[in-house]
Amino acid sequence: MNPLASAIAEGEAPGHSPGGPIRVGSEAHKRLFCRTLLDTHNPYKPAVLDWPPLESEARQRLVNLPIWDIAVQTEGRARLNVASYAAMVSDPLLKKAIELDAFEEGRHKHVLSNLVAAYGITLAPEPEYVLRGDVEWAFMVTGYSECIDSFFAFGLFESAKRSGFFPEALVATFEPVMQEEARHILFFVNWAAWHRRTMPLWRRPYFELKVLAVWLFLVWERIGIARDVGHGVQDNNFTVTGAKSVGEDIDVAELIHLCLRENERRMSLYDRRLRRPRLVPALARFARRFMRS
Ligand SMILES: [Fe+2]
Ligand SMILES: [Fe+2]
Repeated sequence: MNPLASAIAEGEAPGHSPGGPIRVGSEAHKRLFCRTLLDTHNPYKPAVLDWPPLESEARQRLVNLPIWDIAVQTEGRARLNVASYAAMVSDPLLKKAIELDAFEEGRHKHVLSNLVAAYGITLAPEPEYVLRGDVEWAFMVTGYSECIDSFFAFGLFESAKRSGFFPEALVATFEPVMQEEARHILFFVNWAAWHRRTMPLWRRPYFELKVLAVWLFLVWERIGIARDVGHGVQDNNFTVTGAKSVGEDIDVAELIHLCLRENERRMSLYDRRLRRPRLVPALARFARRFMRS
């Protein structure tokens, strides 16, 4: 593994920034966010990941998590959305980075499929993955939804680790997937910032409307779907279902605090000159103000 990738895998690459300042939207910015994704790729093979044997109680807890169908399908859709966008991109470096992103989404699906098989979890039949319509829209839906889901997944994962909900060996096996999602959202927000600066000015208003529409769609998807919780339907709302499953009496303020801390820790490993995902952490900080800790 590349030294930077292994330092990051070990959690030991404290936000180095070896070069001078860079301007968002510049060639140097594009090179930096693409190279960061490419150079920190962890080449693990899903087939050789070791799924530790679990005691029956721990296994049952894992089997009962109501997230497996939607998790596998989300990764399947993410792979398609990202790969389809990569096919449209002409810049060779950007294309290569987005292709790697798509490869990693496919690998997540592989990892999850192996986990599910290893612990005897039964999945609902998968739908056919098809992309109709605007490819950039689909790429942005995947990117921004990862910004929401990963932020909460970081905190939930840490909480499950601390409470012993997941045994240590399982946490270690799954850790690379978590860090990969941190890389993806870092890449995505930098792509979005670069993309809006490099497009012709007349396209900007349309793009901003599209960004807004994607966020509204994601909020609608999460609120709409949250209503189905408890109706036996697995849904996109990882936070609600995940928090309910990981600990009955999880304190929301405490969870938000963990999400913020973990988000910061995971992001701190990368070059400081890159943009960080800001909206979801800012909303979480805002919400925390109204909660008793
Ligand atoms: Fe993924
Ligand atoms: Fe991802």
